[in-house]
Amino acid sequence: MADIKEECRRIFSNNRRKVRDLQYTVPSPSAYPYQWLWDSCFHAIILVHFKTGDAKKEILSLLSKQFQNGMIPHMIYWKKYKKTNFPRIKWGKEETSTITQPPMLAFAVWQIFQKEKDKLFLRSVYPHLYHFYRYLLTERDPHENHLIGIMNSDESGEDNSPRFDLPLGLPPVQTLKENIKRRLKLVAQNIECKFDAPFCMRNFFWVKDISFNSIMVANLAFLAKLAGELGNSEDAAYFIKVAEDISSAMRQFMREDGVFYSTYGEEYKKIKVKTWAIFAPLFAKILKPQEAKQLVNRHLLNKKEFWTNFPIPTTSLDEPSFDPQGYWRGPTWIATNWFVYKGLLNYGFRDIAEEIKKSSTGLIQKSGFREYFNPQTGEGLGAENFTWGGLVIDMDGFGTINE
Ligand code: GLC
Repeated sequence: MADIKEECRRIFSNNRRKVRDLQYTVPSPSAYPYQWLWDSCFHAIILVHFKTGDAKKEILSLLSKQFQNGMIPHMIYWKKYKKTNFPRIKWGKEETSTITQPPMLAFAVWQIFQKEKDKLFLRSVYPHLYHFYRYLLTERDPHENHLIGIMNSDESGEDNSPRFDLPLGLPPVQTLKENIKRRLKLVAQNIECKFDAPFCMRNFFWVKDISFNSIMVANLAFLAKLAGELGNSEDAAYFIKVAEDISSAMRQFMREDGVFYSTYGEEYKKIKVKTWAIFAPLFAKILKPQEAKQLVNRHLLNKKEFWTNFPIPTTSLDEPSFDPQGYWRGPTWIATNWFVYKGLLNYGFRDIAEEIKKSSTGLIQKSGFREYFNPQTGEGLGAENFTWGGLVIDMDGFGTINE
């Protein structure tokens, strides 16, 4: 682990960028040379293990580009566009994208606060967090059914996951090019509908995603704790209540035979594709202990589904869409392992969590800080010098809901 920590420090220092008095980290200098929302939350979680000041800066740069309506964009370009490997996308705005990503901010700020108890920092970021989560709770839930909607699969952070094939109108076997074409169309439609999220979701992509909603529930719990630290008990009670509302709606609309599925359309049709996200409810502690046990035994530890040589594949082996090299359609990613690791600890599955940690660490030792890994051979794939590998440093039991 000492070697991994050293390598992680080196990557973070090479990937660090400064603009005026702001600072952020690029996920990979060659493949992802900008700032991304959930990446920066992961970065802050990792940086707390090195220098809390850098973790705070990572958050502050994100917040500085918050939209008037509370949304925080998932990409910030910062510097004038130069030709890079990353395709230029017409978002309808110059400096940022016009969609968001899973709301990991409250969790990241909670980790930072736990380290230093800096109330001044907390006071300065809290209004931004409040407005971001309020945006999701209102604009993204126009029917008040207590499920948060996404308007592009990119908002889940898992761009081409087979969870979104049905709403994108694509077959289980497809090319990345076909998938990107559909997502770019959604970007253009978002511009056409003047970034009106309820309108856009209703007309083009009405999806309630399991991991997005699970991440929301867990983060609302941490946001309530943050509000409590500032003596704001009214906000704290509100965030706890809405987290409970989302949890019950997830149980009502998403659950079948003990498994949660994302839904699409206004009738909440279940998208019955097993991806790692079936374990995301563990992170949010939405399951009862007996249900969690069943889920883990039936699916996570099942060699025909998720228990590969290098778990956890992002898509179950028995899905027709499974592709061990297919980006979010099979490979193991360290961030998804981190979510499951924390989720397992929420339910006291220490030994299995330890195995995930060992296997994640093993992947980095074998193949380096790569973007994702073949779940059968452990081969490193995608971007190099990719920051997310640093999350293994945070696989330490800290930051569970029980805390
Ligand atoms: C890819 C990933 C997304 C991530 C981004 C930057 O688009 O799918 O989750 O935020 O790269 O690393």
